[in-house]
Amino acid sequence: MTVLKVAIVGCGNISRRHAESYAAAPTELVGVADIVPSKADKLAAKFGGRPFGSVTELLTATSPDLVSVTTPPGSHAEIAIEILAAGKSVLLEKPPVLSLAELDAVAAAEQASAGSVYVVFQHRHGSGGLRAASLLADGALGKPQVAVCETLWFRPVSYFDPEWRGTWVGEGGGPTLGHGIHQIDLLLHLLGPWKSLTATAVRLDRPVEFEDVSMASVIFESGAVATVINSLLSPRELSRIRIDTTGGSLEVNHLYGYSDTDWTFTPAPDAARAATNGLDPGVRRTGSAEVVAADTDPWAGSAGDDVPSNHEAQLGRLVDDLLAGRTHETTLASTRPTMEFVTALYASSLTGTAVQRAELTPGHPFYRALHGDVPQADIDRTMNLP
Ligand SMILES: NC(=O)c1ccc[n+]([C@@H]2O[C@H](COP(=O)([O-])OP(=O)(O)OC[C@H]3O[C@@H](n4cnc5c(N)ncnc54)[C@H](O)[C@@H]3O)[C@@H](O)[C@H]2O)c1
Repeated sequence: MTVLKVAIVGCGNISRRHAESYAAAPTELVGVADIVPSKADKLAAKFGGRPFGSVTELLTATSPDLVSVTTPPGSHAEIAIEILAAGKSVLLEKPPVLSLAELDAVAAAEQASAGSVYVVFQHRHGSGGLRAASLLADGALGKPQVAVCETLWFRPVSYFDPEWRGTWVGEGGGPTLGHGIHQIDLLLHLLGPWKSLTATAVRLDRPVEFEDVSMASVIFESGAVATVINSLLSPRELSRIRIDTTGGSLEVNHLYGYSDTDWTFTPAPDAARAATNGLDPGVRRTGSAEVVAADTDPWAGSAGDDVPSNHEAQLGRLVDDLLAGRTHETTLASTRPTMEFVTALYASSLTGTAVQRAELTPGHPFYRALHGDVPQADIDRTMNLP
């Protein structure tokens, strides 16, 4: 049987999810690398492959088809460019990079390489997300009008103990970039191109250089509107996206990964059926199921096997795609609107103005860094509420 040769750079927490997912797919783990040798040794002892002290050593001694980059976000771009220069493909953990400038540098390296770049956004790959994307794209669920996207998580002060966390240089940003990005990516994947946004980012409690809560109002090119909130201060955690369309309300309500049971679709009252029953379709009463055309509900009708939105779902699809010679759809290029959104959120909150997506070209002040080179004292003044 043909297998894909894979490797992992960065042997910390999330590397285990990669190793387990590859073990469940037709792959051979040829090497793992970490700047802390004992971490590479430990991962190799459990999952196989040769341990190395750096990506350079790994690429010199082995020839993987695909390399997972599971290091802290501040190192992703440099490591990805080195892997691409060796002609190999890369799977970048989220957030793929820390700025649009880094994203474009990695994209340029990809252009010059035989390898390709993919990004881990596992929530695009569960069965619920795949159904939602396909039904919304072909109009079966109606036209999206209003959406709400909430990432209300809790991270204690101790979460920021590792040196790279809490800093622009290591972590790159707060819950907008590091946590809410999962939901933001799924929202944009489902609703299509966004056009403009206005945002607020504040630091209420945690010892970080950036925000611990952010909020945005977004207008999409389709005319749909959405609110997005990202928090690390919310004890009862949830991740939720709700999209109200002309056809109904689609909602996913989960935490770190959904199953089919976390999705609901509530069809809009059906005018023809309501008229038959002598009811007003604009008035929904408790238990008034008769005004809903349940037998023609496209969401219920599209149910298949339940695939939860975890690493195994995406990495399994990625391996299958690469072995079959197909392009895996979560390319680096497909995640640019998500990085543009994150960039615009910081730009809008630090400048107090609305940001158009079309403005985010190399000349934009926030293109090179999410803090836009605004002095830290000014960031502190803007983000720290009295
Ligand atoms: N997709 C998800 O749901 C998800 C969940 C958690 C974390 N992540 C992402 O995974 C990445 C890693 O997070 P983590 O929690 O595993 O971090 P971690 O700190 O536990 O692990 C990072 C590892 O990388 C090593 N490292 C650092 N620089 C290196 C370099 N230049 N070369 C080789 N190794 C290097 C460190 O020694 C460490 O072992 C981050 O981008 C994070 O955002 C994604």
